[in-house]
Amino acid sequence: MNKKKITLEYSVYNDDIKNIEDYSDENRYNNTDMPYPKLCKEAIKISDNAYSLYSGFSVGAAVLLEDDTIILGSNQENIAFPSGICAERTALSYAATTHPKTPVKALAIAAKQRGKLLQNPVSPCGSCRQVFAETITRFKKDFDIIMIGQDKTIIIKAGALLPLAFEF
Ligand code: THU
Repeated sequence: MNKKKITLEYSVYNDDIKNIEDYSDENRYNNTDMPYPKLCKEAIKISDNAYSLYSGFSVGAAVLLEDDTIILGSNQENIAFPSGICAERTALSYAATTHPKTPVKALAIAAKQRGKLLQNPVSPCGSCRQVFAETITRFKKDFDIIMIGQDKTIIIKAGALLPLAFEF
């Protein structure tokens, strides 16, 4: 028997703004070395377009393509719950539809409840992680996932989010 270990690395930004109640969505990345401030602002803004009347959980996703195009998405719910779709998959599907040959560079995710950004960075669900894995396979390239929270923002490689992914 061989024991193997998988390690996971990620970067944390903006830890210093904790407890600043009225840190506005617009200014929150002004004093940070976080590499995707514009993308994050777009993800936060587009969460307001979520159709989330069943969960009250409004998610925004902003995909950055290698040619610097930004594609946005939000979660779109349905009275038949499984027919709803997450913000990340909305954005990635539209990006792949309109730019099928352009690799994904980064994807930022933000979520609001009652109009306020979540305290903790929002972490994508298993189905979205599976779609991230396919995006890596498709373009033969890993990309950054940026999870936005009020306290901090985390950046991690999409490939790290689904270790030992299904393949055949
Ligand atoms: N949701 C997303 O859009 N992205 C995530 O990363 C987590 C969950 C949506 C699905 C559903 O509409 C609502 O948030 C509550 O789960």
